[in-house]
Amino acid sequence: MKQDMIVILDLGSTNNTVLARQIRSLGVYSEIHPHDITVDELNALDNVKGIILNGGENRVVDGQAVDVSPALYECGYPVISVDHPTAKCEKQYDELPDDETMKEFIFDQCKAEANWNMKNFIEDQVELVKRQVGDKKVLLALSGGVDSSVVAALLIKAIGKQLVCVHVNHGLMRKNESESVVEVFQNQLHANLIYVDAADRFLDKLEGVADPEEKRKIIGGEFIRVFEEEARKLDGIEFLGQGTIYPDIIESGTKTAKMVKSHHNVGGLPEDLQFALVEPLKQLFKDEVRACGIELGLPGSMVYRQPFPGPGLGVRCLGAITRERLEAVRESDAILREEFEKAGLDKKVWQYFTVVPDFKSVGMKNHERCFEYMVILRAINTIDAMTATIEKVDWDVLEKITERILGEVENVNRVCYDMSPKPPATIEFE
Ligand code: XMP
Repeated sequence: MKQDMIVILDLGSTNNTVLARQIRSLGVYSEIHPHDITVDELNALDNVKGIILNGGENRVVDGQAVDVSPALYECGYPVISVDHPTAKCEKQYDELPDDETMKEFIFDQCKAEANWNMKNFIEDQVELVKRQVGDKKVLLALSGGVDSSVVAALLIKAIGKQLVCVHVNHGLMRKNESESVVEVFQNQLHANLIYVDAADRFLDKLEGVADPEEKRKIIGGEFIRVFEEEARKLDGIEFLGQGTIYPDIIESGTKTAKMVKSHHNVGGLPEDLQFALVEPLKQLFKDEVRACGIELGLPGSMVYRQPFPGPGLGVRCLGAITRERLEAVRESDAILREEFEKAGLDKKVWQYFTVVPDFKSVGMKNHERCFEYMVILRAINTIDAMTATIEKVDWDVLEKITERILGEVENVNRVCYDMSPKPPATIEFE
């Protein structure tokens, strides 16, 4: 292990991640572990330099105040506590220590070195993955999203062709998205990539299905089936790579905190398809995942891409999906993205996309009446996707986008801009 580490023990705090980020921002790696970690487990973590006992409002579980094992105070690491009145260490703080106090602890008391950076992180993870996997194979569902792309790049660096990536094109990807996965991973990084064109299969299953939840269920379920079929064709796979990142773990609950939402990365895989997991990004925050991707040489367009829902354009082609309207969504989305990039809005706006409803309106084209679909533009800003405000896009940019969509996208005669914040609207329409 190249990096010194400060361990935060979670004694019911709601701000463990803030503390971890503070320490990482000072250049020292930090991990959060449960309060009941044993001394042996602690010693097995390489390069621990100090411990912070982080108490808080959830410290009482089932009527019992949780505490660390007394042996932890004796095992030789410097210890401080935050909001943990019954801690048995010398230095106790009532709330989040400021940077100066924290520096004094990590550098003067713990003698940690500020050696947390992406290069070292990658080297460490490459070593750990090699140790975990040995000469076995790892299977990875590579959607082309930020997390799965970065995991793939890291695993390729660690184990090369022992990684088998499966990219399922469900036909609901954005324009050129699957092509860029193939270009980057197969042609540039020489990954062992299985590309599955399942577009017809998905669209056939979705035919006539208008209910949003039903559509999501079909897309999710079919994805698992296609992935499972591919997995069963392969020999000697013992591990499953996962793009799990730190917020996924936090949101799935800890020993002292309640679950916010279920961690969906693993969910849904058939039970008889049993693999050990390889999750090299599970201690990283999203911005760190992006930095890791850049350090691994992935293109900025892949690493800084905006969030994209698992069911893809399927939830933006409203109601029962037709190929005609799906094409209109895909083409208008590509135009919107191109024009946002030209206007510099791609770096500013959190999420932007188009949707096509399943009804038509009257218009005029070439001096004749037409009855065609409309494209709705949506551009929002948010911090956590729980609430959102609309981006006040410059009128000229909107006009340019409208002109291009009306001129270039078939079966469309009208463009609207969605002015609704979340709540009451959600970001997506379905
Ligand atoms: P809503 O529509 O709930 O969206 O306001 C919040 C954020 O979540 C994204 N989203 C999804 N992401 N799978 C995903 O991975 C999904 O099924 C899904 N549905 C919505 C949405 O794009 C927005 O960023």
